[in-house]
Amino acid sequence: MYRSRLKGSLDRHALAYLSSMDEDASLLPYDIIGSEAHSIMLYEQGLISKDELASILEALESAKGISADELRSMKERYEDVHEALEAYVISRAGIDAGGKMHTARSRNDQVTLDLRMKVRDDITAIEYATLDLINTLLSRARECIDAIMPMYTHLQHAQIGSLSHYLLAYADMLFRDIDRLESCYSRVNLSPLGSSAIGGTSLPVNRERVASLLGFAGIVENSIDATSSRDFLLEFCSSLCMIMLDLSRMAEDMMLWSSSEFNYIELPDELTSTSSVMPQKKNPCPLELMRARASTMLGLLTAMMGIVRSLPSGYNRDLQEGKRIAIDAFKIAYDSLLMMRAIVSDLRVKRDNMLNAAEKSYAIALDVAEQLVQRGIAFRRAHRLVGALVAYAYEHNKVLRDLGIDEVMAVLDRLDEKGLAEVVSSILRDTDPATSLSRRASRGSANPTEQKRMIDAREESSREYRARISAREARLNDALTSLQESVSRFVKCM
Ligand code: ARG
Repeated sequence: MYRSRLKGSLDRHALAYLSSMDEDASLLPYDIIGSEAHSIMLYEQGLISKDELASILEALESAKGISADELRSMKERYEDVHEALEAYVISRAGIDAGGKMHTARSRNDQVTLDLRMKVRDDITAIEYATLDLINTLLSRARECIDAIMPMYTHLQHAQIGSLSHYLLAYADMLFRDIDRLESCYSRVNLSPLGSSAIGGTSLPVNRERVASLLGFAGIVENSIDATSSRDFLLEFCSSLCMIMLDLSRMAEDMMLWSSSEFNYIELPDELTSTSSVMPQKKNPCPLELMRARASTMLGLLTAMMGIVRSLPSGYNRDLQEGKRIAIDAFKIAYDSLLMMRAIVSDLRVKRDNMLNAAEKSYAIALDVAEQLVQRGIAFRRAHRLVGALVAYAYEHNKVLRDLGIDEVMAVLDRLDEKGLAEVVSSILRDTDPATSLSRRASRGSANPTEQKRMIDAREESSREYRARISAREARLNDALTSLQESVSRFVKCM
């Protein structure tokens, strides 16, 4: 449609190579309403007549019914959805009216407008999916305050903990993921339209009006910035990448914990696969794919950064590749959030095995040492003493609680700490995993009362987050509904 300067039509292979029609399918709805808002502004500014506006809007409304098949057939004729939609409007409204739609606009401001509108919706969808996962983590955490288990550092038993504490940690990480997306939203939610190709236009457009018709909070002011920049996409992809990193670490824990060696949790059958040859197998395939897709996501983010790096200012066709990246990144993160939620919601917690591991563990050692500190012993002395007791117990295949007073005495004797044998022995006797948790006193610890307080607070936060996101969503919907009402009024005038 644009090739009057060029001889002949675009080579078939070149068209296929540079077409963005595949990824543009998801941009079509945004291209349509963006064009409607732009056309209404053109009319309000006296750049097109009311009749011309009505014909354009009628054509755009009918474009909402373009089927996937029709879109596929357009792929053979057009480079992208912008060209296809304009051609469609011209074919229905005629060149004199339809040919005015692209006044004071370029595909460069148009494509980033579409992307910003899509990313805006994607952020909202991801935020809701993340909140849903958080709520599931919170309700499982409430059930699991007393699900005692060893906590690991270096993958070695570290301290006694509870499953709720672990689940709450991920809820907090996911809240921060939403914070990042919310902040990103404020930079995405600005309209680039009216920038033209790079330098603005001599026609009397009203950029703020288009922005407000489309529910944007404002405009990207500088027309070079508006058409050249993709930092909003980088931010979006990097926020999604953080989500995937969180999910991938959870996935790794769950794969370990569902192994026969740990045997702490069991994944629901419906969410696992088996082997074609080993009949006994129950493979955590969704978790494995989540781990792999976190890597894919890293690749997408790196690719996006690579595209922008050293790109000359202004629009370059390289930027087209970013659309595919944003679409893929959204799909990976969204699907993974849903998958993780299903897994967390249905996994079976094998409390006895967890407790058994905690009871057999030396992860109680720090609690024992702290009991000595409570009795006035210097922490370094307590650490040395308990370390020696652990070494003895380990050699004799016992847990700390099983050490008799004679054994304690013998160990302490070697350390010149014989006078503490009585007190150490009594501490060992009355320190078990449950008391160890109830004695935790620091804020944010695994103490059951602290766990309850944290769960209550997070449930309250989650309600606040949801209310904030849905108020933002409602504001956008109000703007788009009134845009639709204006469109319908103009079309009726025809
Ligand atoms: N298909 C292009 C993209 O997705 C649209 C913008 C093309 N602009 C241009 N000047 N060639 O990025």
